[in-house]
Amino acid sequence: MKRGIFVGFGLAAIMGLANVGFHSVTMAEEGKQVRVNLPIKRLTSEMENRVTNMIEGILEGNLDYVKQEAAALPDLGKKILDNFFPRGQWFMVAEALNPEETKKRREVFTSFVNKMDAQVKEIQKAADTKDEGATLNAVTNLIQKTCIECHTFYLK
Ligand code: HEC
Repeated sequence: MKRGIFVGFGLAAIMGLANVGFHSVTMAEEGKQVRVNLPIKRLTSEMENRVTNMIEGILEGNLDYVKQEAAALPDLGKKILDNFFPRGQWFMVAEALNPEETKKRREVFTSFVNKMDAQVKEIQKAADTKDEGATLNAVTNLIQKTCIECHTFYLK
């Protein structure tokens, strides 16, 4: 059975979201366990801070600050992607065990990160119009269409 691999991946996501401070991917395949620690906690909590700062910026009417905080997200997304799909041990083992599933996961993950980049541009466009309501809508869309949708995908 090849299905065990990404059950471990999903569990790591659930534990990450439950904020228990355990950040690794566990893979079980016919009795074989591989656990690789991911330096992902720092990246996700920085992402969370940036989003919180954007909302603060809107409430304070400081839309330049919102733009600055939004601009930090694409780089963080790219780093998270690199951590999940590195050329390191976890990825090599996962790919060897189930190349199709690994490829699919990488594509889905990448598409969410790309969506996030597009949404950041929307936030910046809205902020440029100095419209706080439109900026808030764009930030809400970011949270719904990228943060929540990706988390939902990995919690399933
Ligand atoms: C490409 C998919 C994806 C996107 C997009 C995404 N996340 Fe995550 N996020 C994850 C995964 C997977 C985890 C679990 C990581 C782990 O701990 O193993 C996670 C975990 C987290 C955590 C919990 C970290 C902890 O302390 O345990 C926070 C907070 C978080 N994300 C915030 C965000 C915010 C805010 C956004 C939107 C700006 C976002 N994420 C977008 C995939 C994503």
